[in-house]
Amino acid sequence: MDEVGVIIPAAGSGTRMGTSLNKQFLMLKGVPVLVHTARIFQSSEFVREIVIVGAREEIPMIRELVARYKLSKVQDIAPGGATRQESVTSGLNALHSDAKRVVVHDGARPLLPLALLHRFLGAAEGTVAALMAVEPKDTITRIDANGWVVETPAREELRAVQTPQVFDRLILREAHRRAAVEGFAGTDDATLVEWLGYPVKVLEGSPENIKLTTPEDLLLAEQILAGRDGDINF
Ligand code: CTP
Ligand code: MG
Repeated sequence: MDEVGVIIPAAGSGTRMGTSLNKQFLMLKGVPVLVHTARIFQSSEFVREIVIVGAREEIPMIRELVARYKLSKVQDIAPGGATRQESVTSGLNALHSDAKRVVVHDGARPLLPLALLHRFLGAAEGTVAALMAVEPKDTITRIDANGWVVETPAREELRAVQTPQVFDRLILREAHRRAAVEGFAGTDDATLVEWLGYPVKVLEGSPENIKLTTPEDLLLAEQILAGRDGDINF
């Protein structure tokens, strides 16, 4: 399998979590969330380089964690932007290696199993872009401005999109550049590549690969970790 560069956007402010400490630094089983996330990629033989994107004022704290937890593949800690999109652009600019492919994975998704990551990377080979997604558990409906249902697509036709997402590095760079020039804002990286007109492959994710967004997610994350034997990521 091709070696990849990895960008971990971790520069958000975590407003929905509502804690004073940024959610990336909250402890899960005694280890900061961001360290759980970085360790997944640190332990993958297919990862050549990791760039973490952090809020400017948090970069020293991230640097300390990288040293303390011996995250030797972290080549750089890039300054984040006002949006996730800008943060990933910053990460792309900071990549040192010329790896053909780049993976983007939310700092706030610390529970991605390594085996699932590897299955994903294998299945994504040969694509320009691929993302991990799951069928939504709830029915999703489209509403109008007054709160009335407009239409309700069948659940099997919908996917809740997660990260990791993997891309041809140069095409993702081009998508970020064009989006910045034309003022296009996407919620994630696959949206930008889709907007540029490239096909995006959807691969099966896991309901355990949650994003820590609100306080209940922390309880769930503790439970998922408690249910795993031995090393958390295997
Ligand atoms: N992120 C980022 N830079 C931003 C905004 C978000 O790097 N300007 C990162 C977050 O740190 C997180 C990931 O993108 O790891 C997914 O974003 P989200 O879960 O929305 O995190 P926050 O934006 O921090 O949370 P909230 O939207 O509740 O404020
Ligand atoms: Mg956000």
